[in-house]
Amino acid sequence: MKQLKDKLIEARTLLDASFDKKMTLPEGKEKRLVEAMRYSAIGGGKAFRAFLVLTVGEMLGLKKESALQIATALEMVHTFSLIHDDLPAMDNDTMRRGKPTNHIQFDEATAILAGDSLVINAFEVLSEENNLAPEIRCQLIHFLAQMAGKEGMCGGQMLDLIGEKETLNLEEITRLQTKKTGALLRFAVLAPAIASHADESTKEALEKYADCIGLMFQITDDILDIEGDEKLMGKTLGKDKLETKSTFVSLMGLEEARQKAHQLGKEAKEALSFFGEKADLLLEASDFILERKN
Ligand code: IPE
Ligand code: IPE
Ligand code: MG
Ligand code: MG
Ligand code: MG
Repeated sequence: MKQLKDKLIEARTLLDASFDKKMTLPEGKEKRLVEAMRYSAIGGGKAFRAFLVLTVGEMLGLKKESALQIATALEMVHTFSLIHDDLPAMDNDTMRRGKPTNHIQFDEATAILAGDSLVINAFEVLSEENNLAPEIRCQLIHFLAQMAGKEGMCGGQMLDLIGEKETLNLEEITRLQTKKTGALLRFAVLAPAIASHADESTKEALEKYADCIGLMFQITDDILDIEGDEKLMGKTLGKDKLETKSTFVSLMGLEEARQKAHQLGKEAKEALSFFGEKADLLLEASDFILERKN
């Protein structure tokens, strides 16, 4: 997996340089907001979504600069989702990416604003003039809004909170995970296809891949919440049980959840057969999700 590890590091480096440009510190006292945004965005996390955008983009011949712009917007939305996910009213977490969560480092109101600003400025980034046609940028904005909002991540987070109080069934947990985590991964995989005017069969194959890895990604997060290493994960574990979250693991147990993730891994790889060797890195990415320790 050396190639994949290098590519993740490359994505992280490109992303940080891009964040640095998009979030320059202003002069006045309100710079506290940008400090809070930078604190959570820069240097933290696997940059897995950025990696996916860059990798699919490269496979489809998309200009790197355009892919990076898409990746930057997406990772800003992802960072917003994490800052708000950690708030006392939600998961009430104190550690994220190996350091204190945003509301612990700053304060709750600042963390709310930093999240708000990250998600709003993400659309500013996506709309900026570049070598993508205006109608393509408009499609990307529409798609990211859908994947982040009530039909996507926020909708999934609502179900997640309801799932702390009520036991959800298999269909509801699948919907929860597909929206909460799958939706932004779907954007990561399909946005470069939209940007490079890919044909329908290409989009269909990528869609299938995205849906499988989306579910897998959250199943492994839920497994790691039970058996992961806190230091490697950079966040407090064992929380899901404490908060009585409804997950695949709570519903079917560790072993069956693991089997489900492996089955999804197989399906993700089948979907990639359409691309032949060109998709080797995406194949590796599917294994990475299953084997990841952070
Ligand atoms: C964490 O996502 C939240 C989930 C959707 C499970 P990541 O595991 O990608 O977190 P970072 O970006 O690497 O910190
Ligand atoms: C979070 O799921 C998914 C988001 C949309 C942010 P979790 O609540 O399980 O993520 P972690 O474990 O805190 O990273
Ligand atoms: Mg949560
Ligand atoms: Mg959480
Ligand atoms: Mg979790």
